[in-house]
Amino acid sequence: MRHLLATRDLSRDEAIELLDIAEDMAAVQEREVKKLPTLRGKTVVNLFFEDSTRTRISFEAAAKRLSADVINFSAKGSSVSKGESLKDTAQTLQAMGADGVVVRHPSSGAPLVLATSGWIDAGVVNAGDGTHEHPTQALLDAFTMRRRLHGAASRGRDLDGVRIVIVGDILHSRVARSNVWLLDTLGADVTLVAPPTLLPVDPSGWPARIGYDLDAALAPAPDVVMMLRVQAERMHAAFFPNSREYSRTWGLDDARFDRLPPTTMVMHPGPMNRGLEIAARAADSPQSTVREQVANGVSVRMAALYLLLSGERGDA
Ligand code: CP
Repeated sequence: MRHLLATRDLSRDEAIELLDIAEDMAAVQEREVKKLPTLRGKTVVNLFFEDSTRTRISFEAAAKRLSADVINFSAKGSSVSKGESLKDTAQTLQAMGADGVVVRHPSSGAPLVLATSGWIDAGVVNAGDGTHEHPTQALLDAFTMRRRLHGAASRGRDLDGVRIVIVGDILHSRVARSNVWLLDTLGADVTLVAPPTLLPVDPSGWPARIGYDLDAALAPAPDVVMMLRVQAERMHAAFFPNSREYSRTWGLDDARFDRLPPTTMVMHPGPMNRGLEIAARAADSPQSTVREQVANGVSVRMAALYLLLSGERGDA
């Protein structure tokens, strides 16, 4: 694998291989010495043009646990604020000897440009681009579902027939897009639920059912309910019902959470708006995988960096 830009590009076999390697990496996390020498001598640059807590820190932890050197670049406080272009920024990183570039950017397609422009000769991982994709988030979500559902027998398994309801601000969500493509590839049955103003104009090509009624989508109860963050920073006022109406109609509030059986997993990619899309009781319950998702993110990102940067990179 040369780059990891979108789950839409992954075959079932590629996705399962990555999840299985993440299982090996998870086993390393359980050891006293959590480090592997695999990427010694390689340099990974975290190139973040948007804020991040989980993704940036877990890529840094993943690279360090594979013994790579890590350079963290944040657009804030850099020469980007003086008008430096993506091309010049990328070529500066190339001159510093980057083998892998993990990029988060507000523009959909920026990682593809980096991977295909010829400006750099590094493997590129998309850490979230605009409203397009966030592939490692979807992979860690699938890894978390597979582990909860299949435990020690996860290796080699897909998510055939697993019922997943994804709820909220689908319009702005790169997490939703990456999940829809990956979960379909893995055989899951996905329903998207949102206010009509927070759905893309034409989601008919997506491999998912569309609904507007959360209570109907939760009866019968799915295996997984994934709540999405309301992305106020990307939102025009006209898109958004008021907060109380949103929470009552599309939030996982206490009453809805109490109607779910204890077997339904409650997921959220973070950061959470507690009391808006998800109530604290649901977020902090044993059904919630929020903290597991963060921990699993390190294993999945180790697997992605391993596939891109160890040995000879192919053309795929
Ligand atoms: N889930 C996620 O991408 O979180 P961060 O924005 O904190 O990286």
